[in-house]
Amino acid sequence: MPGSSVKLEPRLQAVAQEIKAPTHADIGSDHALLPRYLLLCGRVQRVIVVEKHKGPWENSRRALEGLAAEVRLGDGLGALSPGEADSLSLCGMGARRMVRILSAHPARLPPRLVLQPNDSALPLRQWALQAGYALVNEQMVEGFWRHSILTLKRGACTAYSGLPLELALRFGPLLLKSKHPLLSAELLARRQQLARLPQVEPVRLELEHIEQALALLQGF
Ligand SMILES: C[S@@+](CC[C@H](N)C(=O)[O-])C[C@H]1O[C@@H](n2cnc3c(N)ncnc32)[C@H](O)[C@@H]1O
Repeated sequence: MPGSSVKLEPRLQAVAQEIKAPTHADIGSDHALLPRYLLLCGRVQRVIVVEKHKGPWENSRRALEGLAAEVRLGDGLGALSPGEADSLSLCGMGARRMVRILSAHPARLPPRLVLQPNDSALPLRQWALQAGYALVNEQMVEGFWRHSILTLKRGACTAYSGLPLELALRFGPLLLKSKHPLLSAELLARRQQLARLPQVEPVRLELEHIEQALALLQGF
């Protein structure tokens, strides 16, 4: 495949495999590794990059020079027009910041979103439900942490059917249903960490959620 010599770390590779579109927007690209890969591998025909900061904007411009890419200096979806992109990615940021970016311009959101938060995906799953996006795929990959990657498509969501909602929002309905091996590993490691801490209320509560999720995984 053209561009197959371009290597991405596993987290961005997992994001890339969810994207195939005429025009894709990547918000917060920094070195633009993902959009460059998408263009070189022919997964997208055109890319719009939005960067909020001058340094990363310059990095992106350099990385995408000569390719079918437009690199805009701006704040999130504020730099996009409605209908301009077929899909959008937001990667490598905290989930709460990502929710702020996604909520700021609902009319500019494309129908397909691929999100890779650096922390718990809970706020993104909650946002997706109220914003009318269905969770169509969830991945977990090893990296600096265990990263989760959410693929959302505009429409009614059936991913939570048959699961306790609070638990599924916290740990991922599709990860739970697929008994993802990295989810079990993550839960067991976190249980061990929490067991060493003073058993104050928030710690006890988190442990309770973990036990419930582990029981659910065993019950399927
Ligand atoms: C940690 S980097 C992640 C880079 C890349 N997406 C990745 O996953 O490797 C986060 C980038 O998002 C940019 N950023 C943060 N908030 C933004 C916003 N509201 N709009 C556009 N870019 C933003 C930052 O300037 C920074 O370059």
